[in-house]
This record gives sequence, C-alpha cells and structure tokens, in this order.
Amino acid sequence: MRSDEYPEGLESLERELALLKRFYALWKAGMLYPGDHPMWRHACRQFLEAFTRLQGSRSGEFVLRIVGDEFYLEDTLLVRESILYYSLLQDLKKAGIGGVAVSPSVGPTDLAALVSAVREGEVLRASEDPDAFLRERNIHGIRLEKPGEWKEERGRGGDRTRLTEEYRNAVAVMGEISRQVEEGRRIRVDKARRVVSSLLERIKENRTAVLGLTSLKSHDDYTCYHSINVLILSLSLGTLLSLDRPALVALGMGALLHDLGKITVPREILQKKGPLTEGEWSIIRSHPVKGADILLAQPGIHPLSVAVAMEHHAHYDMGGYPKIRGKERPSLFSRIVEMADVYDAMTTTRPYQRARTPEQALRILLKDSGFVFDPALAPMFVAMMGIYPAGTLVRLSDGRWGVVSEGAVVEPRYPVVKVIADENGPLTRPFLLDLGGDVARERGLEVAEVLLPEEAGVDLEGFLDQEAP
Ligand SMILES: [Fe+2]
Repeated sequence: MRSDEYPEGLESLERELALLKRFYALWKAGMLYPGDHPMWRHACRQFLEAFTRLQGSRSGEFVLRIVGDEFYLEDTLLVRESILYYSLLQDLKKAGIGGVAVSPSVGPTDLAALVSAVREGEVLRASEDPDAFLRERNIHGIRLEKPGEWKEERGRGGDRTRLTEEYRNAVAVMGEISRQVEEGRRIRVDKARRVVSSLLERIKENRTAVLGLTSLKSHDDYTCYHSINVLILSLSLGTLLSLDRPALVALGMGALLHDLGKITVPREILQKKGPLTEGEWSIIRSHPVKGADILLAQPGIHPLSVAVAMEHHAHYDMGGYPKIRGKERPSLFSRIVEMADVYDAMTTTRPYQRARTPEQALRILLKDSGFVFDPALAPMFVAMMGIYPAGTLVRLSDGRWGVVSEGAVVEPRYPVVKVIADENGPLTRPFLLDLGGDVARERGLEVAEVLLPEEAGVDLEGFLDQEAP
C-alpha cells in the first residue's frame, strides 16, 4: 500500500506494529532460552532499541491488551497479529494477564523476570494485585492488567439494544440526506459525520456485534439500509487495516455517501425486473460522476470521500465504470467501499435478484479478486466476516435453528450461535451455544446449512434486538 494514500498518523502505528513484532520475538526467545542465552539477549536488545527509537515519535507506554482472542494495541484492534502471535496471546491468557504495558524505563532484567515467571507457569490470580505480583518478582517498568479490566472500563460494547437504536438513527439521517439531495438542497454533512463517528466508536468497542447488524435488510428502504451497511463493512475493514481516525472518518463518509448519485436515476430503471436497454444502462453508469458532483458541492467533504463516490464501480483493474484516465488503480478507500457495496448488495434480495447467502457472496469476492476486487483486501474481508458472519441464520446438525452471534476468529467453522428454534417451533427463551465449546464438540454439533431469513420466515431484527440471557 502506498503511504501517500493515507492521512498522517498511520506511520506511527506501523512502527508500533514493528515493535509488537519485536516483542513477540523477545517473548518466543524468552520461552525457549534462559535469561543469559545469546538468543534471548539479542531479541531483548532488538526490542529495547526499537522501543527507544519509537520514543522519538510518541511518548509513554507500549500497551498490548487482550479481549477474547484478539489483541489490541492501545485501543486499536489487531486481527492479523491476533492470529500471527496467537501463542503469545495464549501464554498471557494462561498466566491470567489481560494486558501488558511496558514503559520506557524498562530494562532487560525486568523483561526476563516477567517472561520467566510465565514460562515457569506462575499465574496472576484474579484476587491478586498486579502491582504486588510485579513487586514480589522485582519487576519494574511494566504494568499488568487483568483479563476484562479494560473492556469493563470501556463498558458499553455489548449493548445491542443501544446499537440497534444507533443503527436506526443512522438510517433516519441517511433518509434525511437523500431527501435533501432530491430537493437539490445542501446536505447535513455534520449529521453524516456524527453517524460515522458514533458507529466507528461502536466498531472499536465490539466489531462483531456491529457487523451482525449488517444482516438487517429492508425492501422498502433499501438505499438507506444499504448505505449504513456499506459504512459498517467499510469501517470494520478500515479498522483492520489500522487506519487512523481521520482516515477512518474520510473512509466512512465516502462509504455512507457513495451512492448519492443514484438518487438522480429514475426509480423505474433502478427497480426494473427485465433487462435494461442501452440507454437505461448509460443512465445507471452516470451515477458515480453525479454522486461525486453532489459531494463536491458540499463544504467540508474530504477529497478521498469524493473519490469513493467517483470510483466505487471502477474495479481494481479499472475495467468497471466510469472510465478514469491516467490512474492505475482506484484509491484504497474506493477499493474498500466497492467490496463492501457488492457484498451487501449480493446478500440482499432486490426486485431483479434473489439474495445470496453470506458464504456464497464471500466466495464470489474471492473469485473476482485481482479483477474487480483488490486481491490483498478480499481475503481480509473474508477473514473479517468469518465463514458464518454474525447474523447468519443456520440450521444445526441436530435440526435446531440459530443465528450466528459471534464469528470465531480461530475456529471459524464453529461460531457461537443463538439457538432460536427446535423441532417444536420457536423457543420462548433463546440461548447461546458455543459450537467450539466442549459440550457441542463432544456431541458433534456443527452448522449443517445456511438459510435465508426471508425464505425461512424469520424476523432477524427481533432476534438481534434481544439480549442473550
Ligand atoms: Fe453505486
């Protein structure tokens, strides 16, 4: 990826990720070798040198946290690193550690003492004071957090009812903006930005729960729901790419407003069931340029957001529309939004098409990567959604039905499912079942089939609203 595509700030995150890589190398060396071994000394020196260099561009601690099976660097979710450095994550979890904060005053003996305590199987007990644990072992320059401590402090991640309220508010704002465009008025850019910011916060708190909302579809209000879904999918992928906040907001604004040009296309053409005439096609193909014109007329829209409206059908190989001269690839944000746009459109029933299951849609993204979609981004998108994205309606191998509640990163074939019905019909008290858990695995329970909610007659919105007991 080219650095000129990003606003400032990304570079420092790249350096922190490089530091995390060194920390992982140090950890691995420490788990294998004693504190005076040359391999350990080398890994330790490399980490400390990188840490000192980093102090030039920022100050304070290097903070690595664990929530569930995922690493966070400060509050940035690291999906790739959560997989790559899974053994470090497991070591820390086993030792009862939910977060490690290393300060610039740390020395090789402090790091060696921490790693050797974990190597020897010592555990920070839930009742124990982390500072006392460190003091007893004469470890300075390091702070430990307990599992769940950070999440609890942040507090609001699991509140699905609040999330669905925010989603509906976002749909309402989008409806308002569409009317403003129809009437040729200025759009409320400030309101759009607030929608982007608040969904971004929710995604940082609990990406899986927010992604689950994208299974909400509407026949009557397709454009609004679709825009919010594209926003959520794009921002989620943006956070995986560790883009910084200004970049994410620019990406989000582009994603939310990418299709405003469609408002200029007559509804009969958009909803036509039969084949389109060449004239009708050319009207449809004009919507990216019209959308970019609408955004250019608004004050305070980032040029990269305008580029998204212009390029969201351009394709990775520039074989889409409109034809843009002198550019080898669409901008990064446009490549993200095109994928989110197509995924959400494919998984929604439209007058001219039956919805595909999430699984089928993800296969198509992979199949068309390198042509329509960015070959680096498509596998990341698939990994982000999991085989069974949250909100997928499934039939289990024992005949019960459920809605996928959380995508499992480590074992995507075995998600957590909210069981909603059995052979006697809907359950009065749906319950969560972890297909990766011991009980389910012993019984050989797995997903037997993915179902489309409308064909199965299930109102997913009702189930997503419901708090799990
Ligand atoms: Fe479009």
